[in-house]
Amino acid sequence: MKRVTKAVFPVAGMGSRFLPATKASPKEMMPVVDKPLIQYAVEEAVAAGITDMVFITGRNKRAIEDHFDTAYELESELAARGKNDLLRMVQEVIPKHVNCIYIRQTVALGLGHAVLCAQPVVQDEPFAVILADDLIDGEPPIIQQMIEVSQRHQCSVLGVQDVPRSHTGQYGIVSATNLEPNVELAHGIIEKPSPDVAPSTLAVVGRYILTPRIFHHLAQVKAGAGGEIQLTDGIAALLREEKLLAYRFNGIRYDCGSKLGYLKAQVAFALKREDLRDGFADYLATLK
Ligand code: G1P
Repeated sequence: MKRVTKAVFPVAGMGSRFLPATKASPKEMMPVVDKPLIQYAVEEAVAAGITDMVFITGRNKRAIEDHFDTAYELESELAARGKNDLLRMVQEVIPKHVNCIYIRQTVALGLGHAVLCAQPVVQDEPFAVILADDLIDGEPPIIQQMIEVSQRHQCSVLGVQDVPRSHTGQYGIVSATNLEPNVELAHGIIEKPSPDVAPSTLAVVGRYILTPRIFHHLAQVKAGAGGEIQLTDGIAALLREEKLLAYRFNGIRYDCGSKLGYLKAQVAFALKREDLRDGFADYLATLK
């Protein structure tokens, strides 16, 4: 199997759960403390040695392209004012050796369709898919842990965690048998099953390493759950012909697609920050 050098970021979604905040700006640009969700996702990929970032964008997503581009006016203004720390921060949003590639998904047909839009760039290499909504704090970064498992077993890997049975309707749910500590051999996957029919409580949480064979299946998948072309359905077809693993990653996941998860991420990441920790902890202690 070739090395993973490309990560696909599906960012065309409407972000309806965060309206009105997402009316005119992308949900992926919502900050946790002072960094947008998409930057955390890209930094995770960079830390894993990935060099090509493939964004599947849509209307109203220009801010993402601008974020990873040079900001001439801002940079010259900061330079003129001698604000060198801020200048460096702005210039280092993405390392120089990393390429950003933007593909427009002109119709919102679903996550599976978004990933299929990356085929002309990814071609015949294994690749990562990262959903910026799922902010995962872990060391080494989760996608790096998954690349390691994928290389060792020479196959696709899904990032999974156990969820309460009452939540299965929000996730792709995997049926699997244990292979080694934290690694399961997947036998099936189903998109958003209701708790009474879910085959397990092992949920896919926004991190995938996929072999390029997935494109063959995604091109054939019909609209599934929610009337969308689901990545899960493509993976279900893939695992019938290739070995596919589910990996219980080592890290804490914040579901930033939900308000509660997003708020938890704000608190957790603020408390990790040296410049904010004490003042914020003091404030939190005064509540209730
Ligand atoms: C998507 C996938 C689902 C996965 C989830 C993880 O659903 O379709 O299989 O479990 O992301 O966050 P969405 O949250 O976009 O509805």
